Parts: sequence; C-alpha cells; structure tokens
Amino acid sequence: MSDIEQTLSIIKPDAVERNLQDQIKNEFKNNGFEIIKEKKIHISKEEAEKFYKVHVSKPFYNDLCNYLSSGPIVVMNLQRDNAILENRKLMGATNPKDAEEGTLRKKYGLSIDKNSVHGSDSVENAKIELDFFFKD
Ligand code: CMP
Repeated sequence: MSDIEQTLSIIKPDAVERNLQDQIKNEFKNNGFEIIKEKKIHISKEEAEKFYKVHVSKPFYNDLCNYLSSGPIVVMNLQRDNAILENRKLMGATNPKDAEEGTLRKKYGLSIDKNSVHGSDSVENAKIELDFFFKD
C-alpha cells in the first residue's frame, strides 16, 4: 500500500547561490515528484529560528539559523506516493560525506551545514512545515 503524501522541500542558500535550483527541481520531477507549489524567498533570522525551533537546544542552532537566512531559498510543496520517505532517500544522509552516490546531498552538498536541501522528516512535521511556508 502506498499513500499519496505531500512534503516540504527547501533548496538552501548554497544551492541557490550556485544556480542549481532548476537542476534540483528536475531531479525531483525525474524521481516522480510533482511540484504543487513553489516560491523563492529570503527569510529573516527570526523566521529561520521559528522554522528550526525543534533544534533550539542543539549547539549548531545559531549557525543554522544564520545560514538559512543568509540568502534566497526555494521552498516547495512536493507530492508523490510516500513523498516523505522518498524525498529523504533522494536527499541522502544529512552530511554529504556520508551520503550515498546519486543522492542530492552527495551530488550538490558542500558540508553538513551547506547540504543544499532540506526535507520534512515525518508526516506530522511535513504538515507543520508546509503550513509554515504556504498557509495563506
Ligand atoms: P536539515 O535537514 O535542514 O535539518 C537541520 C540542519 O542542521 C541539517 O539539515 C544540517 O544542515 C544542519 N546541521 C548542522 N550540524 C548538524 C549536526 N551535527 N547534526 C545534524 N544537523 C546538523
């Protein structure tokens, strides 16, 4: 059984800065994802802090929020069967050094911070993260 799901994907500042957004969008499309909604935005540090609040106690939280607000990002609502798991498989491990060949973070990621893409990690978080960027 497979469920049609929606998940939030972010093309992070390092990838937008290198003009990789069209290439990465094609990777999603070629892997069965439909881009339901997308927008290019530049968020404030305060917004980044809200978005990443689950990581507030982590030592990397401040750098992470500075980074996500350092330049334009592309946020997308992606849809396919098992979108959350399939997106995580396509992205690969958080640290590009540990990511498998063929994954987005292996291909495009520069470091654990500049790892080019973010994706929701559960059905519950996908809903929260999609609402964060796309709720009217
Ligand atoms: P992301 O999937 O966007 O979720 C949180 C981000 O924190 C993660 O990708 C990494 O880019 C970043 N990060 C920095 N240091 C770490 C770490 N030690 N463990 C996990 N994530 C980290």
